[in-house]
Amino acid sequence: MDSIIAPAPGYSKKKLLCDIYYGFRPNKPTFTPEDYPDLTGKTALVTGCNTGIGKHVVELLYQKNCNIIGVVRTHEKGDAARDEIVNNNPESNGTITVVGGCDYLDLAKIPSVAENIKKVLDGKPLNIIVHNAGLMAPDNKGTSAQGYEAMFQTNVLGPQLLQHFLDPLFVKKDDTSLKRIVWVSSGAHLLAFNTYGINWEDPTFEKVAVSERPDNQTLYGQSKAANIYQAKAWYENHKEFCDEVDCVSVSCYPGNLRTDLQRGWGLTMFFMKFLFWDGIYGAYSELFGALSPTLKAKDSGSYVVPFGEIQDPREDVKLGLTNGVYMKLWGLVEEKIKQYY
Ligand SMILES: NC(=O)c1ccc[n+]([C@@H]2O[C@H](COP(=O)([O-])OP(=O)(O)OC[C@H]3O[C@@H](n4cnc5c(N)ncnc54)[C@H](OP(=O)(O)O)[C@@H]3O)[C@@H](O)[C@H]2O)c1
Repeated sequence: MDSIIAPAPGYSKKKLLCDIYYGFRPNKPTFTPEDYPDLTGKTALVTGCNTGIGKHVVELLYQKNCNIIGVVRTHEKGDAARDEIVNNNPESNGTITVVGGCDYLDLAKIPSVAENIKKVLDGKPLNIIVHNAGLMAPDNKGTSAQGYEAMFQTNVLGPQLLQHFLDPLFVKKDDTSLKRIVWVSSGAHLLAFNTYGINWEDPTFEKVAVSERPDNQTLYGQSKAANIYQAKAWYENHKEFCDEVDCVSVSCYPGNLRTDLQRGWGLTMFFMKFLFWDGIYGAYSELFGALSPTLKAKDSGSYVVPFGEIQDPREDVKLGLTNGVYMKLWGLVEEKIKQYY
């Protein structure tokens, strides 16, 4: 850590346990589809939307006549989800266009994905971006094409690289009635390293053997702490624009939800699933960030928790949102991804 940044403070274990408990028994959602505005003429981009929370997000947006760009890694899976949503909602005037090939485990693939998104947009305004795609691996062994730990690359490097290409399409005063970015994080950031959530010397674990990596929940937690910083850092980098057009960039812990995310959990999930919520509740959380009129540019960097309210992240991560740690994380990620610009 730079000496100008204060050492990470400790955090209360009691509050940590309360926050973990809250994830299982959150307050009821208060901002639900009947509160959403009509989205005719608006365009939203949602990553990882062939399944899980992302698929629910697309369906709820589509029901409000939104035009959606669904970014997935396997085109066929995206097409299947789109067909199902379109068939279930014949009254919608929206559209769903699938852009495939977005596999964050190889950063070299992202520039061409961005080119395809640009073609789909064809100069039209982009109103909402939901960085929803994510990986919670069942072990700590995954390594990307770039030689980085798989969850940090999928959950942090990939979205920031895609956002780099989306910036010129999004940071425009073309439709300033709605400009939102949601960086999907998790309550699992509570389990991250006690140094502001990040293993600063080597967050990608490229310098050590796989056998020396910490457990998978610490690694997943690290990536989700980074998402909280990314939301604030993106705002900081575009502050003038955001403040002028009331553009909002927030992180979001969608909830503890039954989705494909726990696909590697086996028997554990068989028992745990009774404690988890249906995936649509996660969409309520993410769409609070994307649509709630209560959020203003000054709320950027806030941490949305289930099922659509703002609370503080872990104490050291909260401090990291004010003392420069968030910009340090952003810069560190930029160093890793800039060769793919
Ligand atoms: N479910 C929960 O309890 C929970 C809790 C907190 C946070 N979250 C977060 O919510 C987000 C959505 O998760 P979910 O629960 O809906 O999980 P999910 O059902 O597993 O969906 C994850 C999506 O991300 C995509 N994805 C995975 N690895 C990818 C990669 N390398 N490159 C590009 N896309 C990739 C998946 O594509 P494929 O189908 O092709 O694999 C899928 O579309 C994630 O960011 C997750 O961390 C979930």
